[in-house]
Parts: sequence; structure tokens; C-alpha cells
Amino acid sequence: MKTEKTQGIQVRFKQAEQTRMFLSKNNILRTDLRIIRDKQFVYFPIKTVPKTLFKTKNTIMEKEFEKQKTKPKTYKDILKLPKQIQDTLPTSYDIIGDIILIKLPKNLQKYKKNIGESLLTVNKNIKVVCAIEAVTGELRTRNLEIIAGEQRTTTTHKEYNLTFDVDVQKTYFSPRLATERKHIASLVKPKETIVDMFAGVAPFSIIIASYAQPAIIYALDKNKEAIRYAKQNIRKNKLLDKIEAISMDAKDAPRMFKKMNVHADRIIMNLPFSAHLFFSQALQIAADPCSIHYYDILKEEKMDERLKYLEKIAKKNKATITYLETRKIKTYAPREFYIGIDIQATKKTCRCSSARLSG
Ligand SMILES: C[S@@+](CC[C@H](N)C(=O)[O-])C[C@H]1O[C@@H](n2cnc3c(N)ncnc32)[C@H](O)[C@@H]1O
Repeated sequence: MKTEKTQGIQVRFKQAEQTRMFLSKNNILRTDLRIIRDKQFVYFPIKTVPKTLFKTKNTIMEKEFEKQKTKPKTYKDILKLPKQIQDTLPTSYDIIGDIILIKLPKNLQKYKKNIGESLLTVNKNIKVVCAIEAVTGELRTRNLEIIAGEQRTTTTHKEYNLTFDVDVQKTYFSPRLATERKHIASLVKPKETIVDMFAGVAPFSIIIASYAQPAIIYALDKNKEAIRYAKQNIRKNKLLDKIEAISMDAKDAPRMFKKMNVHADRIIMNLPFSAHLFFSQALQIAADPCSIHYYDILKEEKMDERLKYLEKIAKKNKATITYLETRKIKTYAPREFYIGIDIQATKKTCRCSSARLSG
């Protein structure tokens, strides 16, 4: 235990709280040292002798004070890396359930074990730390490596009082879309038929089914593992009568929904980079009118091009689309954004209006 001999003020118990408040308020109390209590007195470590309160020398004395154990604020406070390396440590990371996902640049790879351990030390609820690469491929999964903690990639994430079982390696899930999901749920009107075309473990479907009153939600995904988790999550959140999870390619949605004679009042298309390739299928399953929530990752200068492409597809499908709102949801890279576009589709000749960019 480390100690330091320094000046302290001795006061009786009765005056202790009043003295502590005075010393704190006047910035005289040393917060790096621990206050001492014995049977009769309390001793406060001080920076200087206050002139106003303590006239008798007896109350000021030298004492051996124990040093406070300072709690590290962030994982960076624990790591003692060379300054130029320390400066490149990521300031943010994602937390899914009790798993941290952190992107580490190449120069930090050899420190990954230390980084993982320090993240575990400061985040007491975290049990696993994974170094991640970018989400890639058709199924939007990612390569990752467990760098500290338990050897598992499965967890349970909580969002708006709902629970989501996720495998962070085999399925896509982003806690950063929580506000967006809740926003979409707030737009849903009672008795709507909804199609979540790229549902993953079904967070959009589950939040909508819980916070709005749709008639039915069809949650589609090509990733069998995602649908297995989606079904589990639907059951756990007691929404079996509201959501049907189906393992399938969204390309086949028009055929299936035609057979079922189902038309969607609302469609969620959360497949950044590729959603535009499925816009025709979305229009084919759309009711008249239909609200489409379209998500993409785009550089600002590519935005107009993508909107024109969607208008072309609408025209081919004899639909009219109106862009209601465009939101920047998060930054993906410099000048590149995760974008949400709210579209109104009707089955008339195309008179496409231009988008309004907000956020
Ligand atoms: C970006 S994730 C979104 C998941 C979910 N909507 C969410 O917000 O967490 C896209 C999902 O689309 C699925 N996917 C990709 N291509 C697909 C296709 N052709 N048909 C159906 N699902 C597909 C992936 O497996 C992945 O789960």
C-alpha cells in the first residue's frame, strides 16, 4: 500500500462533513489521498492550510495518508504503449451483448492481447473482446479473432427491452441502428403487412412487432444461420403470431408472395451496397401505395446517381416513386455514409421527385 506524509486537518466527527464540504468547495482537499478516521477524529489531507477556518496549529498536523487507487477511465489509461502507437488506439468500438468488437489497424496487431485485456479490465460486464475486419460478402458477415476473454462469438443483446440472440461471426447485427429501428416502428400504422427483405436476426421486425400493431411481418434472409437466430428471437420475445421468418433469397420473393396473394404495405430493404439490385422485386411485392425504407452506403457524390437508378427501375415496373426523406444514419468512411431513404411507391406512371438530404 503506497502512502505519502503530508499536512492534514484533524477535526472531530461532528464537524467532519462540514469541513469536507468547505475543503472541497475551496479546492483545498487532496482527492488523491484517502481520508483517515480513528475513534475520535477525522483527518483530511490538504493542499494548503486554509486561513479562515483553522486558527489553532494543533488541528493541522503531518500524517501518513494512504494513496487512492485511481480507477482507469478508459482502456487506453491502462495501456502503456509508446506515444506514437498510443495515439492510434481506437476511441470507439461496438458492444453487442457482452462482446466488444473493435477494429485494429495493422500497427496495433502486435498489441492486440494487451488491448483486449485492458478492455476487459475497464468494462466489467464484457466477457469477450474480438478484433474485427469489415463486414463483407453477400451475407454481410465478418472475419474476426477473439483477442481476450471467453472463447465464444454468441451473445444476447438488449435493445428497447427486447432481447436478441446473435452470433457476431455468423450473422450481421449492428447496435448502431437501434434508433433507426425504433424510428421505423414509429411510422408503422395498425394492420400493415410488412416485408423485411434482408432481416438478419430480425431486429427491425421484432422492434416493429413490439412497438406497433402490424397485421403480419415476413422476415426473409438468405443466411440460414441468421434465420435460425431470427426464429429463436421471435420466440423469446413472444411474437410468434406477428412475425414469420423465412429462409430464402429475396430474388424469389415476388413468386412466393404472388402465390400467397400477399402485398406489402411497407418494405424494409437493409442491404447496403446491394439493395438497389432488389428494388425491382420490392416494387413487385408492393401494395398500392407502399412505404419502402431503403438503406445504402454511398459517397455523397454518388447519391444522385443511385436515386436516378431507382427511378429507372420504378419506371420499368410501372411505378411512381417519391422520395420522402433521406437520413444520414452513420459515417462509414470519410464522405461516405450509411443512408436511409424513405420512399413512397404507387402504381402509376413515374413522376419522380428529387430527394431532400437531411442529417
Ligand atoms: C446488412 S444485413 C441486415 C440485417 C438486419 N436487417 C439488421 O438490421 O440487422 C443484410 C442481410 O441480408 C441478407 N441477405 C443478403 N443477400 C440476400 C438475399 N439475396 N436474400 C435475402 N437475404 C439476403 C444477409 O444474410 C444479411 O443478414
